[in-house]
Amino acid sequence: MNTAATHPKGLEGVVAADTRLSDVRGEEGVLVYAGYNINELAGHVSFEEVVHLLHKGHLPNRAELDALKKTLAASRPLPEGVMRILHELPSSTPPMHALRTGVSALGCFDPEAEDDSMEAQHRKALRLIAQVPVITAAFHRMRSGKPVVAPDSSLGEAANFLHMIDDEKPSKEKEQTLDLCYVLHADHGMNASTFSARVTIATLSDMYSAITTAIGTLKGPLHGGANEGVIKMLQEIGSPAGVDAYVDNALAHKQKIMGIGHRVYKTLDPRAPHLRAMAQKLSQKIGEPKWIEMSDRIARLMYEKKHLNANVDFYSATVYYSLGIPTDLFTPIFAIARTAGWTAHILEQLSENRLIRPQSNYIGP
Ligand code: COA
Repeated sequence: MNTAATHPKGLEGVVAADTRLSDVRGEEGVLVYAGYNINELAGHVSFEEVVHLLHKGHLPNRAELDALKKTLAASRPLPEGVMRILHELPSSTPPMHALRTGVSALGCFDPEAEDDSMEAQHRKALRLIAQVPVITAAFHRMRSGKPVVAPDSSLGEAANFLHMIDDEKPSKEKEQTLDLCYVLHADHGMNASTFSARVTIATLSDMYSAITTAIGTLKGPLHGGANEGVIKMLQEIGSPAGVDAYVDNALAHKQKIMGIGHRVYKTLDPRAPHLRAMAQKLSQKIGEPKWIEMSDRIARLMYEKKHLNANVDFYSATVYYSLGIPTDLFTPIFAIARTAGWTAHILEQLSENRLIRPQSNYIGP
């Protein structure tokens, strides 16, 4: 039997759900969030507006946006017990492990954790969007031996995260840059972590379990972890003069270049140009244009040699680096933004649930 035809490896091309949330059109290089092309949203709406769009199906009016921002800001403080658990973690804990543990712990302290009414699910979704960044920032301060910075309810999501990391109010430019990164990372069809979140919630498990699953899935270098791999690669290459030899050597040894290639996009990832523009501006600004020069050369070589394009992780690495964000927080930032999409997919899955339970093809004795 030709098994590739009935169950392609890695489920490539298999449709696992209907969704109103986002559409990834791989052949055209188009990404749509709930009816809006990403290019219409990027630079025009805030992350909070995208949260509303994904959760409610339409962009908010002024009153709806104010109410959402107020709810998110009020939901930020973590339960004392979660803070204690984070304090107990070794300072060497990779932040994605701490985030996964923190989200799992949130479920232990939320009296509504097992409340499966849709009203409670919506409340938990917003709490998670508000608390995932706070766990990330709080653990980062703890591991650095610095006091945790209290959330500032006057700040939006991106600004508050930067404030909690650095203990200072970010510049407008920094805030807008991170906000745009959040917008670009908020959702992306049936990517691996979203699929895993939907599989977990489809068993009628709980919201915290589903987000914990998703964080574990995002962490891998073939998914969200690629952004950390990109900056490590650029640091290893060191200067634009080293790029050609590095790429040739990697390809000769069948090693993957992080941030390049995509399962669905067969042309340019529409998020990449937005990130590239930010990366170019910021790397000039910090006086280190070599990051964008190396990146552009790698992207060009990979297109020429393998016909592969840069994906969302490729230029976001230089953006985060230029903002002064530590490398191992790059993937947690992806998780912060994607919690918007994960929770929206969980709510959608619950609204028309059927257990996700595929088959396997037995090839044993
Ligand atoms: N560097 C070098 N070669 C790559 C590559 C990369 N980043 N991505 C894909 N290829 C090559 C493969 O080696 C393979 O070549 P072959 O046919 O000669 O064996 C071909 O392209 C198909 O790749 P494959 O890994 O089978 O595609 P996939 O759809 O399973 O994988 C990714 C998609 C994203 C996992 C893959 O492109 C990758 O590993 N990229 C690097 C990690 C990354 O940036 N992840 C973030 C994704 S948003």
